[in-house]
Amino acid sequence: MATRRPTGGQVTIECPGIRVEYPVEHSTITIIRPDDWHLHLRDGPLLEAVVEATARQFARAIIMPNLKPPVTSTQMAQAYRERILAALVRTAPGVSFEPLMTLYLTDGLSPDEVSRAHDSGIVYAAKLYPAGATTNSDAGVTHVDRIASTLERMQRIGMPLLIHGESTAPDIDVFDREDIFIEQTMVPLRARYPELKIVFEHITTKSAADYVSSCAELTAATITAHHLLDNRNAIFDGGIRPHMYCLPILKRERDRQALVAAATSGDPRFFLGTDSAPHPRADKETACGCAGLFTALNAMELYAEAFEQVGALEKLEAFASLNGPRFYGLAPNEETITLVRGSAQVPAKVMAGDVEIVPYRADEAMRWVIEQ
Ligand code: NCD
Ligand code: ZN
Repeated sequence: MATRRPTGGQVTIECPGIRVEYPVEHSTITIIRPDDWHLHLRDGPLLEAVVEATARQFARAIIMPNLKPPVTSTQMAQAYRERILAALVRTAPGVSFEPLMTLYLTDGLSPDEVSRAHDSGIVYAAKLYPAGATTNSDAGVTHVDRIASTLERMQRIGMPLLIHGESTAPDIDVFDREDIFIEQTMVPLRARYPELKIVFEHITTKSAADYVSSCAELTAATITAHHLLDNRNAIFDGGIRPHMYCLPILKRERDRQALVAAATSGDPRFFLGTDSAPHPRADKETACGCAGLFTALNAMELYAEAFEQVGALEKLEAFASLNGPRFYGLAPNEETITLVRGSAQVPAKVMAGDVEIVPYRADEAMRWVIEQ
């Protein structure tokens, strides 16, 4: 990674060991083009509206399979992949982007289907949603024992298991679901399949960060930008804020700080996964709103802001561009992207046909802008 000294303003920004001091006017960071290891692209008009934003920033993304109906076969993954690429050709011709597909695990998904997916060369992982944990997870796994033979097969063929790590027991406090999941499901699962590659998706707590750090190399975690930037106060800032509601829900400030520490620690098992999850405005601003934040528009700008806040911009490239491919056994990308310090406004909304999607930090200023 390289940074340039800006031409004006008082500034100290150097590589390595960057420390940015304010005000800074024109500094830039160039890093290897990143990948997003956890992304919801949706389907139909929503897909058409959001895919370009990701493809402009990231070379590849792990595509979440929680469609309606969920992506439970190689054939469905193949067809979804084609729809993604077709939407991209229509909305951003010439932009190259590789969707890395995933399978949605259900109680009934057979080990052979997992092998078929693996052999197809287009499916990179399988996702475990505990049934009822989040958006479109009704068909998810009711108990990990039910998928034992599928998990054994995944362990054998080297297919990573991606886990939405929240307990779904109705009596568990919503803020404790990740902690309880670690105790009750993650620890025994890890012990039972010691050679299985596991990604603990979108970790949100200090306990999850500590847990992953304590594990051996086959356990990794993705971290979103919003969990690095916000704590749970943001959901209740002056009133109820449906556009700050996601799952796992934002946690305490001490958790946010622990996630920032993990992301900037240099431990290669923490890497970028936006969990950008667009929903129509009407499904968010309602008496029972959907979980999910749309962060894809300015994902790298947000991560840069989070890393900059703790003087760790020099750690951004590993987190965003190197650690993910390393865990998945892929080569890092060859191109680079440049982020420029500056101010730009996040749009108030993105249109998907006549449906509005409200992005994270709508109408607010961004501290970094990606150079196109
Ligand atoms: C995601 C969605 O909307 O698909 N929502 C979210 O709040 N993150 C599902 C998920 O990843 O939990
Ligand atoms: Zn998600």
